[in-house]
Amino acid sequence: MIHADVAIVGGGVIGCSIAYYLALAGQKVVVLEREHLAAGASGVAAGMLAAQVEAPFTNPFFDLTVQGRAEHAPLAEQLRADVGLDVECRTTGILRVASTESERVDLQRTLKWQSARGLRGEWIEPQHLGECEPLLAGVAGRLLAGGAWFPDEAQVRGPRLVQALAAASVKRGARMLEGTWALGFSTAGERVTGVRTPAGTLEADTYVLAAGVWSPDLVRDLGLELPVGPVKGQIATLRALNQTLRQVVWSGDCYLVPRVDGQVVLGATQEDGNYDARPTLAGIGALSEAALELLPWAGQLVLEGVWAGLRPAAPDRYPIVGRAPNCRNLFLATAHFRNGVLLGPLTGRLLANHILSGTESAELRPFGLARFAP
Ligand code: GLY
Repeated sequence: MIHADVAIVGGGVIGCSIAYYLALAGQKVVVLEREHLAAGASGVAAGMLAAQVEAPFTNPFFDLTVQGRAEHAPLAEQLRADVGLDVECRTTGILRVASTESERVDLQRTLKWQSARGLRGEWIEPQHLGECEPLLAGVAGRLLAGGAWFPDEAQVRGPRLVQALAAASVKRGARMLEGTWALGFSTAGERVTGVRTPAGTLEADTYVLAAGVWSPDLVRDLGLELPVGPVKGQIATLRALNQTLRQVVWSGDCYLVPRVDGQVVLGATQEDGNYDARPTLAGIGALSEAALELLPWAGQLVLEGVWAGLRPAAPDRYPIVGRAPNCRNLFLATAHFRNGVLLGPLTGRLLANHILSGTESAELRPFGLARFAP
């Protein structure tokens, strides 16, 4: 079998981002993916680059997400020039509408502390919501409490980003082994010596585990307990036949993400502990109800598809990234929860740099597995 510099388990946005930055640096990379690229959570992600809208307070994770958002536009340009794929990175902004007084208070507090950090955001009174999003004109009164407008939030097409990262990696000699199950790691002392697959053992100098919700199963034999489980998310892909939204509109219960080609993504449920990655009538029904409540216009959208993915989540909902505690040449990159697409490129760049230089970045230091040590 092949011998690689780095073997990465998982062909989602995290695995392919790491592969891309390693391949750029001249490393011989192999990615093992049990289904096809972006078959897991990355393929279902709405692709919002939302650092501000969900941040309740400032902390190292918030800093990471703001930095993560900034990686996307230059990367999209690089990928377009490199492999000719447009990942549709667009700064459309996000309008977070408040339906209750308590949401209004929380969002205004968010705007205040973010403004003190130099981040843009603006409060919009209910009667002016229609100026920000014309489709809210006339219905905004029902929303009562106004909205927070975050002009620098952006979006990208998640599955296409994965394809572009993979294509750019392959162009530099990386190999994408789709349909290849990783069964586990072989070790000798404190080192991993191979990834076992049904077709044999793949050897590399360094290994990365980026297998989303399946990551814990692959390292249990090594004595590593990864506290990662699924938070299932269901979405519906819809199509606007004439007019569409100007930006992402987000309420407490759903979000609507307009694409350039008229597609609108309606998301997403959050179902803790559910490993069944199939959409359900109840899930899609709840999203439809929330969308119609937010925006009656949504009733005319054509339903094109329903999807579900399993977001990998740690108990604190922060990623687990860095060197595995008991294996010198194994790195972990999982548990990105709702932020895989947002943080993929930054995680890829910083982790590739850690692998190559041996020095962990200050930004990723708070997100090691060690934080769960007793
Ligand atoms: N990033 C949005 C979601 O996971 O639903």
